[in-house]
Amino acid sequence: MGTVVLGTGSCLPERVLTNVELESIVETSADWIQSRTGIEARRIGGEGEKTYQLATEAARKALSAAGVAAEELGLIVVGTISSHMLMPSTACFVQTELGAKNAFAYDLNAACSGFLYGMDLADKYIRADHTMKVLVIGAETLSSRLNWQDRNTCILFGDGAGAAVFGHSDSDRGIIGSNMFSDGSLWQLLYMHAPESCNPDLLVEGNTGAYIQMEGREVFKHAVRAMEDSVRGLLEREGISRDSLNLVIPHQANMRILTNLIDRLEIPMSKVFINVAKYGNTSAASIPIALDEANMSGLIAQGDTILFCSFGGGFTWGATLIKW
Ligand code: ACO
Repeated sequence: MGTVVLGTGSCLPERVLTNVELESIVETSADWIQSRTGIEARRIGGEGEKTYQLATEAARKALSAAGVAAEELGLIVVGTISSHMLMPSTACFVQTELGAKNAFAYDLNAACSGFLYGMDLADKYIRADHTMKVLVIGAETLSSRLNWQDRNTCILFGDGAGAAVFGHSDSDRGIIGSNMFSDGSLWQLLYMHAPESCNPDLLVEGNTGAYIQMEGREVFKHAVRAMEDSVRGLLEREGISRDSLNLVIPHQANMRILTNLIDRLEIPMSKVFINVAKYGNTSAASIPIALDEANMSGLIAQGDTILFCSFGGGFTWGATLIKW
C-alpha cells in the first residue's frame, strides 16, 4: 500500500516558437538547434498564461481526472523558478484560483527537479496521514527568465505546466521509493540572479540580471552522470531490474542528454517517453507534462513500474519509482 497518482493534467501556452523563428531573434540556425538538442519548437506564454495560470489549468484537469474536489486537497506544492511574483507563492495563487480552501500551499525551488522533489514530499505527507490528498505541480514560464541575446540558453527552454493529484491506496500500488540529491557547490555552472537588492549593503557582486546563465558542456556531463548514478542506486536499493521497467519518464532536457543517459543505463529507447522536440526544456514542468501525455495516450497500465529521473540547477537531481 502506498501513495498513488489519482489523476494528471497539463497546460501548454498556445504560442509555438519554432527554431526557424529563433533565427531572426538570435544568431543561430534551425539545423544547429535541431542537431545539438533535438528541440524543434517550444511554447511561449502570452496574455493569460502566467505561471500560476498555466499551473491552475493543469491542476483543474488533474483534479477532474482524479475525481477529487479542490476542497479535498490538504496540500498544494508548486515546483517553479519562474513565478510572476516573489510573494505570494505561485502555489497560493493556484489555491485561490481553485478554491482549495482547506489546503496549505507553498512553492519549491529545485529547478528541473521541482516535480520529483514535490512528489517525494507528497509521499511523505500521505504516508503520515492517509486521508491527505496532495496536488503537486511543475510550472514554468522561463521565457520571462531568459536573455534572448544569449544563444547558449534561449534556444533550450520553453513554458508550460503539468500536475498530478496524489492520495493513499490500500493496494500494492504506489511510490516505491526515491533517491534525491543536491550539490550547491557547483551552483556557478547553472544559475539565475535575483532582482537587484534594495539594500546597497546587500548588493550581489556580478549580478548581471535575473535570467538563466549556464556552462552548457559542464552541465551536460554532470547531468548524465548524476542521473545515471541516482537511477542505478535506486534500482539496486529497491531490488528492481531494468528489464522489469515498463516506462521511463526522464526530465526532458535535450535529446543528446537523454540518449547519452539511456545508452549508459542500457534501457531500450522504446521504453522511454520523449516529447522534448515539441516543448524544449520546461524545467520543473517537463516531467509532469510528459507524465500526463503518456497517461492520456494510454501508454500506462495499472501495475506498470515507471521510473522518473531529473537533473537541474542547484544542482538538484534524483530518481523515483512508482508502481502505477
Ligand atoms: N546556435 C549556433 N551556434 C551555437 C549556439 C546556437 N544556439 N550555441 C552555441 N553555439 C556555438 C558555440 O558558440 C560554439 O562555437 P565555437 O566553437 O565557435 O566557440 C559551438 O557552437 C559549440 O558550442 P558548445 O557549447 O561546445 O556546444 P555543445 O555541443 O556543447 O552544445 C548545448 C551546447 C546544447 C547547450 C550542450 O552543451 C548541452 O546540451 N548542455 C546541457 C545544457 C542543458 O540542457 N541545460 C538545461 C538546464 S539543466 C538540465 O535541464 C539538465
